[in-house]
Amino acid sequence: MRLDVFTIFPEYLQPLGLSLLGKAREEGLIALSVHDLREHAHDRHRTVDDAPLGGGAGMVMKPEPWGRALDAWVAKTQPGPAASAAGEAGEVAARPVLIVPSPAGARFDQEMAYELAALPALGFACGRYEGIDERVLDYAREDLGLDVRPVSIGDYVLNGGEVAVLAMIEAIVRLLPGVIGNAASLDEESHTGGLLEYPVYTRPAVWNRHSAPEVLLSGHHAKVARWRRDQQLLRTCARRPDLIEALDPQALDKADRAVLREQGFAIRDGRVVRSTGTDG
Ligand code: 6GU
Repeated sequence: MRLDVFTIFPEYLQPLGLSLLGKAREEGLIALSVHDLREHAHDRHRTVDDAPLGGGAGMVMKPEPWGRALDAWVAKTQPGPAASAAGEAGEVAARPVLIVPSPAGARFDQEMAYELAALPALGFACGRYEGIDERVLDYAREDLGLDVRPVSIGDYVLNGGEVAVLAMIEAIVRLLPGVIGNAASLDEESHTGGLLEYPVYTRPAVWNRHSAPEVLLSGHHAKVARWRRDQQLLRTCARRPDLIEALDPQALDKADRAVLREQGFAIRDGRVVRSTGTDG
């Protein structure tokens, strides 16, 4: 997978050289480049921002440097007309995806991470200040043919897209084949299957007078599996009831339904709903 990040703070992306991601780069599983947007700002001060049209607080990122940066990206990464013509007849190439981190974007989640991990290339356009001139997104979509996706990592405001890109790239790259040693661990983690992860324990069995749950020492695999599933349901009910209401009832067995009923949820009209309150 090829990843290109555009930013006025390339140093912000240095953690991408560490740990699992650094190893994935060394092993050639990903090719990651960070580009300094200022290289495309050609005035003496390499200006990238200006006051908002219509007035208001803060500064807006100017369109010209972004336009040149994206032109260069498309020229470098997209096959020209000759190469396209040589492709399989009738094959329609997927539009390259450009992620634009923004608190005003669609929510990034595990499902989106899986979707993006299946693509051959991704671009990230990090905004600072109050954001990027909206015409840059229109130009990228309409003139460059990019699949432009404004994306948010949660309901809070960061100073710029860089930290959000660190989070998104880590979430995406760890899903690529070969990046995580034990691929089975991906199947059991939080947000796979719509529930939070169960709690985990290791030795010693008793620590500072706190005991690990006995069932985990029983060697009874079916009982351990049921206990973990119960814990997932209980945790998700307590911490993320919104995820419980998004579950498909068809994916719930009898024991699951008993746990949910106990926690004040019911199944009505093929949906999981809170049953506590007046109609409880
Ligand atoms: Cl992707 N960018 C910024 N600036 N703030 C955010 C965000 C992104 N996601 C949540 N807050």
